[in-house]
Parts: sequence; C-alpha cells; structure tokens
Amino acid sequence: MWRPYGPLCSRKPGGWRLRPELLLITQDGSPTLVHPRFQEAYSSRYGAWTQANVLYLGLTQTHAHPAPRVLEVGFGLGMNFRATLDSCLRRGVPLDYLGYEAFPVEAGVLGWVEAPLTEEAARVWAEVRVGWAAAPEPLILEGPWGRLEVRFEDVTRASFPQGWASAIYLDPFSPAVNPEPWGLSVLRSLYHAAAPGAYLATYSVAGRLRRGLAAVGFEVRKVPGVGKKAWTLARRPLA
Ligand SMILES: C[S@@+](CC[C@H](N)C(=O)[O-])C[C@H]1O[C@@H](n2cnc3c(N)ncnc32)[C@H](O)[C@@H]1O
Repeated sequence: MWRPYGPLCSRKPGGWRLRPELLLITQDGSPTLVHPRFQEAYSSRYGAWTQANVLYLGLTQTHAHPAPRVLEVGFGLGMNFRATLDSCLRRGVPLDYLGYEAFPVEAGVLGWVEAPLTEEAARVWAEVRVGWAAAPEPLILEGPWGRLEVRFEDVTRASFPQGWASAIYLDPFSPAVNPEPWGLSVLRSLYHAAAPGAYLATYSVAGRLRRGLAAVGFEVRKVPGVGKKAWTLARRPLA
C-alpha cells in the first residue's frame, strides 16, 4: 500500500507537494493521484474523466443546465471542474463554480493530471494554475466563460450561499478515512445551499450518509455508477 506521508509528499506553505510516483492511470486512460495521507485516489479507478462527466455532470443534470451553478466539496485536482467547464464551453452556456478545498496541492501538481480539454477550456485551466499559487487566499477567476471561486477552507466551517446551487458535487475522500465533510451539519448546510430541485451526487452509498441526506430534507436514491459501483443521487424537493 502507499506509505503515509514519508518522502512521497510533504506539506509546504504553497500546498501539498505530492510526488509523480503517486500518479495512477485510471481505466479510461485519464490520470489521477493517490493521496499518501488518505491512501485513496482523487478520482475513480474506473475512469477519472468518465466519473466527472457521466456521474457528477450527468447525474446532477449539469450537462443539460442552461446556466449551472455548481458547489463542490473537495476541489482536489480540478477534474470535475474541468469536465464541467468543458461541457459549458462546448454548449455555449455560462458556468458559476464554487469549490471548497481544505488541503490544496501545490500548483505544479495540478499540471500532472491532464484532461482532454478543448483549446478554450485548456486556456482557462492554465489561468487557474497560475492563480492557484496565491492560495490560501480564495482563488477567483472570471471570464466570458463564467466564474470560478475556490475557497481554501475546511468545509465543516464554511458558510455556503443559500438556495444557490443547481448542482452539488459531494466529493471528499471516503467517510472511512475523511469523515468530517460527510457529517450531518455539513449535509444540512448543503441542503440549504441547494436551489429547489437541485441535485447532489456522490460516490458514497454508505447507509449513514444516505440516512443523513434524507434526515436533512433531500430525496435520496441509489443509482448505477461506473463499473459495478453504485452512487447516491439526492435532490432538494421543489417545494
Ligand atoms: C476525492 S478528492 C476530490 C477530487 C476532485 N473533486 C477532483 O475533481 O479532482 C477529495 C478532496 O477533498 C478534500 N477535502 C478533504 N476534507 C476536506 C474538508 N474538510 N474541507 C474541504 N475539502 C476537503 C481533499 O483535500 C481532496 O482534495
């Protein structure tokens, strides 16, 4: 298994410095990284790019939304952001994306994890990587494509915009190794951050999580994921 901490990563003022040895090629050919502290991959081993597109975008209907406002818990390596940006640019719709990230990697690490982006999306992503150097101040980027804000905060202490999100990507590491962002108080805050009718998608199907989502008001379903894995899809009711 991966060694915790050790020479494979170290905490620097500019973020977590991971080593390229931690790079993993997922089943659809797109790369991800294994985090040596949490000992988990940032994206699904079935396919990082597939997971972002089919599950986060697809399940939350973000791929068809005329002006998505996405709230993400765990911005990580920006794979989900890039897939969402790419989709919006291809469709010519504006994107408003708010990501939370408590343990940002160093800006250079973001460059290792490539995604098949259009030229325009790749240009925006290059700007994100330049702006990333400014962490821990929030990263705010605006352009004709829309807006990205990444708050380098622990989501358990965050205050989200109310009734704002058309989609929520709940994507921390698993509840077994990273329980805090899955707690009831975060789920309740996410419910209030969701616009009526908004979807929340996550790869965890833990019973405790699904009961928690239902307890704070979401309608909750278990749906097929990529490979054999099931996913959780929750929706804030319209009224
Ligand atoms: C599975 S990875 C996310 C991958 C990411 N969505 C992507 O598309 O690349 C989980 C992320 O959640 C972050 N995280 C863990 N606990 C957190 C917390 N309490 N608040 C905010 N982010 C957290 C981790 O640092 C990590 O970057």
